[in-house]
Formats: sequence, C-alpha cells, structure tokens
Amino acid sequence: MPVPKNQAAWLVKASSPLELGDAPFPTAGSGELVIRNAAIAINPLDCHMQDSGVFVQQWPAIFGCDIAGEVYEVGKDVERFKGGDRVIGHAINLTSGRPQDGAFALYTVIPADKAAILPDEISFTDGVVVPFALEAAVCTLSLEEPGVAMPGVATPALGLPYPSLHDVPSSGKTLIVYGGSSSVGSMTIQIATAAGIHVIAISGAHNFDFSKRCGAAQVFDHKDTSLAAKVIEAVLEKGNEFIGIFDAIATPETYANDITILEQLEGGHLACVHPPPPTTDLPANVNAGMIFAVNDAVTPVWKDYVTPALQSGKLQCLPPPFIVGKGLEHIQSALEKSKAGISATKLVVEL
Ligand SMILES: NC(=O)c1ccc[n+]([C@@H]2O[C@H](COP(=O)([O-])OP(=O)(O)OC[C@H]3O[C@@H](n4cnc5c(N)ncnc54)[C@H](OP(=O)(O)O)[C@@H]3O)[C@@H](O)[C@H]2O)c1
Repeated sequence: MPVPKNQAAWLVKASSPLELGDAPFPTAGSGELVIRNAAIAINPLDCHMQDSGVFVQQWPAIFGCDIAGEVYEVGKDVERFKGGDRVIGHAINLTSGRPQDGAFALYTVIPADKAAILPDEISFTDGVVVPFALEAAVCTLSLEEPGVAMPGVATPALGLPYPSLHDVPSSGKTLIVYGGSSSVGSMTIQIATAAGIHVIAISGAHNFDFSKRCGAAQVFDHKDTSLAAKVIEAVLEKGNEFIGIFDAIATPETYANDITILEQLEGGHLACVHPPPPTTDLPANVNAGMIFAVNDAVTPVWKDYVTPALQSGKLQCLPPPFIVGKGLEHIQSALEKSKAGISATKLVVEL
C-alpha cells in the first residue's frame, strides 16, 4: 500500500504564523501508535509555544497536545489497539520535542498509554476536548509524591484516589477549584467528583450551571468582591476535611484570594497551573506546587477509566467544542481566537 502524504502546520520561528507544509510520514515505535487525525484541539500552552518558542526543542516545530482520529499503525508491544480503531489521545511533543509527536499534523505519533478508544456514538470533535485536560486533572489530584514541575518548583501531591466508574461514597473531603469553567478546571471537577470529592468551584456567574453540570456542589462568582469570605463560609458549613485549592487560573488576583482562603482554613494544598507565589508570601502550612501535565501516573486512568466512563456518560466531553474550521489552515486562526480569550469552550479544528 502506498504511504499516504503527511502535512503539518509548522512553527518555523517564535512569534511567526504557522506555515503549512509537507511533513515526514511518522512510524510507530515500541509502545506507540500513529493516528490519522480527524480533529485537534487548542490549548493555551500552544499559544505560549507559538509566541515565545518556550518548550520548543527542535526547529521547525510541530506542537499541539489533543488529538482524535483513527489508528493508522500500531507499534510493537501494544495490545489495546488495532488499525482502524477510533481513539482520543494526548500528544507529547511538550516533553519529547519530536515533531512527529505534535498534534498539528495529519498524522501524529502518541504513546499507546495516553490513548483510549472513543465510543462510536461520540464524535471526534467532541472527544478531542478530553485528553490534555484529563492528563492535567489526574496530575493535579492523584500524584502521591511531589516531583519537579520546573527547576525549583515541585509538583503537587494531593494523593487522592483515581476516579471510579461506580458511584462512590463521599470521601468526606472538600476541594476548591478556582477556574471551574476552564477546560482544565472543569475536567478536574469531573474527575474529583468521580472520586467522591466534594467540589466548590469559582467561575464566571454565566457559567454556574456549566460548573454544576461537571459536578461542582456549589459555585461562586470570581468577580464577587466578597468571594474569599463566601468560599470560606461554604467550606466551613460543609464541615469536611479541607484538601486545598486547585487554581486553574493562577494570576496575582487569584493568588491573593487563594492565600486569604488558605490562611483562614488553616492551610492545605495549593496546586497551580503556573508557578505558585514565592514561599515568603505563603502561610507556612500551605503545600504549594505547579502541575505538569505529562505523567505516567495517568496511565491507569487512560487504560481502565476513559472509555467505559465516556460510554456511561460518567465522563462528559466538556467544555463543549467550538469548531473553528476544517483543515490544517484553520489552526492559526484557532490560536488567535484562543489568545483573544474563551469561556467554557474548547477550540477545535477538524481535519
Ligand atoms: N502546568 C500545566 O501542566 C498546565 C496544563 C494545562 C493547562 N495549563 C494552564 O492552565 C490554564 C488554564 O488552561 P485552560 O485550557 O483550562 O484554559 P481556558 O479553558 O482557555 O480558560 C478559560 C476560562 O478561564 C476562566 N477564567 C478567567 N479568569 C478567571 C478568574 N479570575 N477566575 C475564574 N475563572 C477565570 C474563564 O471563566 P469565565 O468565562 O467563567 O469567567 C474561562 O472559562 C492556562 O494558563 C494553561 O496554560 C497548565
């Protein structure tokens, strides 16, 4: 069979628009899959990579983390997949640096351990909202030991159980998710509630219903001037063990509220999506860290949870996709839309 042609949206240098061009046809190494992409999604990380070249290890670069499509080739020692399977997966150019591991191409290599079968009744454009956010959510909640997110910054180690396919009894623990309508925040609500955690979310007032649909028990408006006091009251009223805060926004404004809340609730974890505030600003009883959303600890969730949970509706493809267009040429405008800001949606390009 003739090898099909691969094409990609290349980043040739930082701060330049992506350029469409031919790309080498990838092959699957041991433990890997080659996917013929049907849809890719945009993440804020992609915008940072394009703007500053941060994390790019090899120029020109192909980056992007979220793919949905069909298995084209199965590498050695892969047993869970066969050619033609519909899958979603997490592309890891972020850590490998290899262009063939970037999502913004017609064909991408992914580790089989970061893929799951997509049930037939779920479209590629819905399913593609899941992978990177899922990896981030599990890295936030379930690491047992702190690792290294970047030099001098530890990853959080909340040590919470993996999500369950069954209805689990309440764990008696409360977690605050700051940014409960963001992609990573809303997925963390879904995964935490599937592990029996009581979640209090902080979102825009127009997204209260959305955060509740993901599983939040209560939601507070991030623009409310009494936000910290209201959240503290809600945590105390519930009376659970307080785990801490996952801050999926991580700006000086959110950090100020995080510190007020943690001070009054006698400390806990502060898991952030960017480096946490310097330790001099933090109460002594706060364990602060930055998540790094590529970790083998997520493998059991990819293997045992994602497909049946999607099938049963326990894992929902949220936030819903906004389809920017069809074809690699639409990735650049999707990146620009992402930079302009989005609310409770994931930007998706069909291929
Ligand atoms: N370290 C890592 O490994 C890692 C992994 C993944 C993502 N990230 C980072 O995590 C961040 C979130 O990524 P994402 O893809 O989830 O973003 P996103 O979906 O693009 O975030 C958009 C959402 O942010 C919410 N938001 C903005 N300001 C807020 C505030 N002050 N309080 C509460 N919510 C606020 C908006 O809520 P409303 O519309 O409701 O106002 C909106 O729904 C990005 O900075 C990304 O780079 C880091």
